[in-house]
Amino acid sequence: MNLATVIRSEEKWLLPTYDRQKVLFEKGRGLYLWDSRGNRYLDFLSGIGVNALGHSHPAISSTLKKQAGRLIHVSNLFFHEYQAELAKRLTKISGLDRAFFCNSGTEAWEGALKLARAYARTQNNNGHKAKWRLLALENSFHGRTFGSLATTGQEKYRHPFTPLVPGVGFVAFNDVEDLKRQFDGSVCAICLETIQGEGGIRPLTPEFLQVARELADRTGALLILDEIQCGLGRTGRYFAYQHYGIQPDILTVAKPLAAGLPLGALLTTNRVAGGMHPGMHGTTFGGGPLACAVAIEFLRTLDGLLDHIQEVGDYFRAGLEDMRTRHTSIQEIRGMGLMLGMELDSADTAKAAVQQLLQKGILINRTQETVLRFLPPYIIQKKHVDEVVRALDSALSASAAKRPPMRAGKTTKRSLR
Ligand SMILES: Cc1ncc(COP(=O)(O)O)c(C=O)c1O
Repeated sequence: MNLATVIRSEEKWLLPTYDRQKVLFEKGRGLYLWDSRGNRYLDFLSGIGVNALGHSHPAISSTLKKQAGRLIHVSNLFFHEYQAELAKRLTKISGLDRAFFCNSGTEAWEGALKLARAYARTQNNNGHKAKWRLLALENSFHGRTFGSLATTGQEKYRHPFTPLVPGVGFVAFNDVEDLKRQFDGSVCAICLETIQGEGGIRPLTPEFLQVARELADRTGALLILDEIQCGLGRTGRYFAYQHYGIQPDILTVAKPLAAGLPLGALLTTNRVAGGMHPGMHGTTFGGGPLACAVAIEFLRTLDGLLDHIQEVGDYFRAGLEDMRTRHTSIQEIRGMGLMLGMELDSADTAKAAVQQLLQKGILINRTQETVLRFLPPYIIQKKHVDEVVRALDSALSASAAKRPPMRAGKTTKRSLR
């Protein structure tokens, strides 16, 4: 197959939902992908945080092959040996008690919202005042299904599909006073990404998360954290909230969980799990033996990588910060571990940077128009960081050379973290 043929067929046969880069990938190994012309690419995006162990990781491939030959699917009408084992491992590393498995991030988030409402109903039945409102954040992203869209604080995703699920209010990002103003006894859950991903790699401040936890505790509302992008090792700890010293009541994870197979999960406490009983929620495919067996292998491998993620992430961040001293187009570096973002001063510069890196055989992506997003596999080494920093440095220099000279007196924003 060649690229032009695939593009023509997709234009004819697919719903026009994606604006893809014009690259046709044929194979991947480790940190690299190869396209149909034999060009090699260093993958610093991991399929938006999914291929966290790189491509064709030997432990993942071998588990996949073994399990595919034994049992792929049984439905949730029957038992298989891996769901409880995977749940046990996830609860151990999260400090939560129970898991529900599904197929994607958005499905995990839908389950979390349903669980929050179901739990609130049990409280309402106990004579408490009715709790039903959800508070989410401006600029958030929780997925594409209706509940997820209803809690996603970005008009561009919501607008074509209104009316959405009712009962959701939006709080200004990291604005403690706004949170306090909007919070009352009718709120059943505060819904947050610990680090906004699609929204431009924006970590919550410790103060904001702390206040959210305290407000929820005060009225019996729940704190739901979406760690679909920032969880499972991405920040150098198992979960990003572990940098903040708080615990959520419900947690959602997905992307890297089954190392490329579709698998999502919500985790919660025994108390909140009491809101569900058999028949209230479910899925046909979610938590099948193939995906769960692979996810167990992913978690086994992750145990040995956390320190490395932290170390190489700090090194990467230092490289980006250093570059900031040389380029006035860089406004801010944000993120933790191997979830990093570089805010540039214009969409054109960001777009050009992504294209120039692509031409040099490096994959990154741009979100919110002006933010370069880096989500490399956890197995990168410092030499790969050096390569990307060098390529980016020269891409930004090339963009700067094409611009009219900057006016004197322009200042740049300071870094958040
Ligand atoms: C924080 C967050 N939540 C939810 C989702 C939705 O996940 P999925 O695309 O698997 O439905 C994403 C996807 O990018 C995400 O980053």
